[in-house]
Amino acid sequence: MNKRNFLKSLIAVSVLVTTGSISISSQAAETTKLGFLVKQPEEPWFQTEWAFADKAAKDLGDVQIIKMAIPDGEKTLNAIDNLAASGAKGFVICTPDPKLGPAIMAKARSYDLKVITVDDQFLNAAGEPMSNVPIIMMAATEIGERQGFELYKEMQKRGWNVNETAVLAITADELDTARRRTDGAISALIKAGFPEKQIYKSPTKSNDIPGALDAANAMLVQHPEVKNWLIVGMNDNTVLGGIRATEGQGFKAENVVGIGINGTDAVSELSKPKMTGFIGSLLPSPDVHGYRSTEMLYKWVKEGVEPPKYTPIGDPVLLTRENFKLELEKKGL
Ligand code: GLA
Repeated sequence: MNKRNFLKSLIAVSVLVTTGSISISSQAAETTKLGFLVKQPEEPWFQTEWAFADKAAKDLGDVQIIKMAIPDGEKTLNAIDNLAASGAKGFVICTPDPKLGPAIMAKARSYDLKVITVDDQFLNAAGEPMSNVPIIMMAATEIGERQGFELYKEMQKRGWNVNETAVLAITADELDTARRRTDGAISALIKAGFPEKQIYKSPTKSNDIPGALDAANAMLVQHPEVKNWLIVGMNDNTVLGGIRATEGQGFKAENVVGIGINGTDAVSELSKPKMTGFIGSLLPSPDVHGYRSTEMLYKWVKEGVEPPKYTPIGDPVLLTRENFKLELEKKGL
């Protein structure tokens, strides 16, 4: 081999080695890391979303879901820093406060992370929905209307005198999805013929059982004339808080009807040996929320497929004491 040919082959070998090492290192970096951040990890609703995000990751192949609890603004922004440091390419998020939307988006953009929201929509500085950020959420008004309709139906079934009955609506109007659910329930009750003047709204300070219990207690004491109560609330825990308040003030289960929303958070109540005022829950699709948001984020990151801006998920199933095990099983929950 002359000197020239020797040099040529040397270059060829080194190119091969270099390309080889490049492809080896890019293969090792193949695992796509995606964050899934939720505001209330203690709610079975969010645990279900996480479980189905993992299922999507498994089906998609080399994907790792980094699950993080973000109960407040500071933890949310820290979580995004940590995600970026760990090499994640994007995240799905249910924010602890919709008003954090602009700060979350600014931070995500600074790291070039893609964002899909789930359940609760971001609000901009003017308090308007940030409709440019993709969202997957329950069809809130429709599910609320179903809650109102089912409550009215149960009242009729029990043969209650409407004049002795009132609606206690525990509200959380600053959260748009919550406002739309309770407004939907109230409008369905009115449409069915329930007198508007007997519908009492009480805002809750926190979206959990203790907050709802306080809100309900405050309203119940103002209306000693009411014999039967229908309880409206944006999710299972809110309605459960209302139920606990009626029990605390001596109402019997036969004088109270509450129907929750989420389904996942109603299992222990519906399993109680003795019936309470909480007779059922509307189960939307936390499985679809968790699975589809993960799948959309993956396709966006890997293939550049932009997700739709708005994906509403409807068609809830009414869980009752009789059917809840079967219905949850049917959905693999
Ligand atoms: C909100 C509520 C949750 C659940 C989701 C569903 O985030 O806080 O309990 O109802 O909506 O979209």
